[in-house]
This record gives sequence, structure tokens and C-alpha cells, in this order.
Amino acid sequence: MLTLEEYIKMANDEINAIAYPSAPSGLYSPIAYTMQLGGKRLRPALVLMACDAFGGNVERALRPAVGLELFHNFTLLHDDVMDNADVRRGMPTVHKRWNANTAILSGDAMLSMSAQYIGQVDPNILPRVNELFHRTAMEIYEGQQYDMDFEVRNNVTINEYIEMIRLKTSVLIGCACKLGAIIAGASAEKAQALYDMGLSLGLAFQLQDDVLDVWGDEASFGKEIGGDIMNNKKTYLLIGAMQRAQGDDAIELRRWLNDSYAIRDKKVPAVRALYERLGVRQAANAAIEHYNALALESLSKADLPKEAHSAFERFINGLVGRVK
Ligand code: IPE
Ligand code: IPE
Ligand code: MG
Ligand code: MG
Ligand code: MG
Repeated sequence: MLTLEEYIKMANDEINAIAYPSAPSGLYSPIAYTMQLGGKRLRPALVLMACDAFGGNVERALRPAVGLELFHNFTLLHDDVMDNADVRRGMPTVHKRWNANTAILSGDAMLSMSAQYIGQVDPNILPRVNELFHRTAMEIYEGQQYDMDFEVRNNVTINEYIEMIRLKTSVLIGCACKLGAIIAGASAEKAQALYDMGLSLGLAFQLQDDVLDVWGDEASFGKEIGGDIMNNKKTYLLIGAMQRAQGDDAIELRRWLNDSYAIRDKKVPAVRALYERLGVRQAANAAIEHYNALALESLSKADLPKEAHSAFERFINGLVGRVK
């Protein structure tokens, strides 16, 4: 096994070697811009780690790993339009630096590129890989639709929220793990256990993303703080606050949710203060711990060699309390 940093470096080297056609630059420059801005590269690293963990040839997982990162970045281009987000990875988002049409079309191109990269596997496993990839992609679109639908609903339950983030975020993390396992030729049972680990890890990951969107440090998080609050995103925090708020707190929270012209500098600190009064941050942290524990349970079921098991354990624990 290699270190996480080494897997990330392998992925980055392959990403930096992508040759973009020079024209039309309106299509390709935003793709290069996005891919070269970095990001944590967790998904390709998981593909490579999973392949290595099951004794596969990591080189063979490299193209599919980069394919998943291309796919992830495509979702970010569209997501930033949908969420009206101006900053990502510390830089202007594509729809801000260019425009929404650019984010749509360059995103589309990244989706096709991702399929080309992911398809570069042994023909024997190509049908399984394609099935996994396209099913995952469809689930992510479903999750994104629920995320948008929930903005204008005020009766979203915690169960609905968990299902929404399973779809929009977790299945891609699960897919990364399973893809690496399939490439390595792992048994269906073990590949599924690693997928399940990815699902739980993904839930904890999105919960932490929601926490950072409220209390994160803009410079390290690389995104504008308070976007979820401005969009009335039904996060674990907002749903918890709506369930807990009584009396004046309930009135104030409802007022912020209904105020379509609220000023960011007023609404974000006020809702954050409500969250703090109502103790929902602690509740979110408890949920994160719960899903991390579930991830560790599934990891054990994958029955990996000791070194590989520890590598994933470190990966999971390394995300606890992440700030970016
Ligand atoms: C952002 O994903 C979208 C979510 C699922 C929260 P990451 O936090 O992995 O973003 P990058 O790739 O590191 O920028
Ligand atoms: C991310 O959800 C899910 C996808 C991009 C598919 P968010 O909207 O919370 O992600 P960020 O916070 O913009 O990275
Ligand atoms: Mg979103
Ligand atoms: Mg977003
Ligand atoms: Mg977010």
C-alpha cells in the first residue's frame, strides 16, 4: 500500500497530463481551469486505494480514477449554478468567471470525458463498470433534484435529508470504492462491503460539509460561508433547528426562511446564532460520529489485509474534524 498523499499524487499527475484541444477555448479553458484548481481528490484516491487493497494493479485503475474526478468536477460546475455559488476552491466559480452557459456546456463535456476515462478498463469488466457508473450518475441527479425541491419545503424530515445526501454525495464515494475493487477483481461480496463503507463515509462527509458551510473558515474551506443558509437548504442543522425552535426562536427562524430579500451579512450570523442556541451543531457532530462508526463496521466486512484495513481506517479518521 502507498500513503494517501502518494495516491493523490498519482491522480494529480494523470490529471495534469490531460490534453485539452486548444479550440474552442470557450469550451476547454473552463475545464482546464477547474481541473487544475485542485481539490482534495478524495474520489480518485479511493479508487486507487481500493484497487491496491484488493491486490490489483493500480496503474490500471488510474484512468477510471481520473474519470470519477472529472465526473465529480462536472457536478460541481452545474451545482454552483444551481446553488448560485460564487467561490470554489478559493477561486471564482465557472459561471461567475465566465457565465452560466459556459458552466452548462463545459460541464456536459466533462461528463462525456469522464465516461471515456471510466471506460478504459478490461473489456471483461466493462459492462459492470458502466452499470455502476451510470446508476451512480442517475442517483446523483435524483439527489440534486431533492436538494432543490427541499429548498422550498418546510416539512423535510431527517430521514428524507439522509436519503437526499445518500443520493447526491454518498453514492459517488461508494462508487469510487467499488470501482477500485472491481478493477482489482475482488469478490462481489467484498466489493459491496467497501461500497457500503463509502456510503456511510459519504454521509459523514456531507454532514461535515453542511457544518463547514456554517462555521468553516472561508480561506481553508474555499467556499463562501453561509450559502446553505441563504438558500434555505434543508440541512441536518436547519431541519434540527426547525424541530427544536420554540416561541421567539421559532418566529425568528420562520421570518428568516420567508425573507426572500434578506441581506447575507444579517441572515447568516442570525441563523448561525439560532443554530448555536438550539444545539444543532452538537447533534450534527453526533450524527457524523455515528456514520463514521458504521463506515468502520463495513470496512471490517471487506476483510482486507491488515495494512490495507489500516489505510482505510486512517482515511476515515483523517476526515473527522476536517476543515476543507
Ligand atoms: C464537494 O466535494 C461536494 C460535496 C460532496 C460536499 P469535495 O469537498 O470533495 O470538493 P473538492 O473536490 O475537494 O473541491
Ligand atoms: C454537493 O452538495 C453535491 C453535488 C455537487 C453533487 P453541495 O451543494 O453541498 O456541495 P458544495 O458545498 O457546493 O461543494
Ligand atoms: Mg448543491
Ligand atoms: Mg453547492
Ligand atoms: Mg455544501
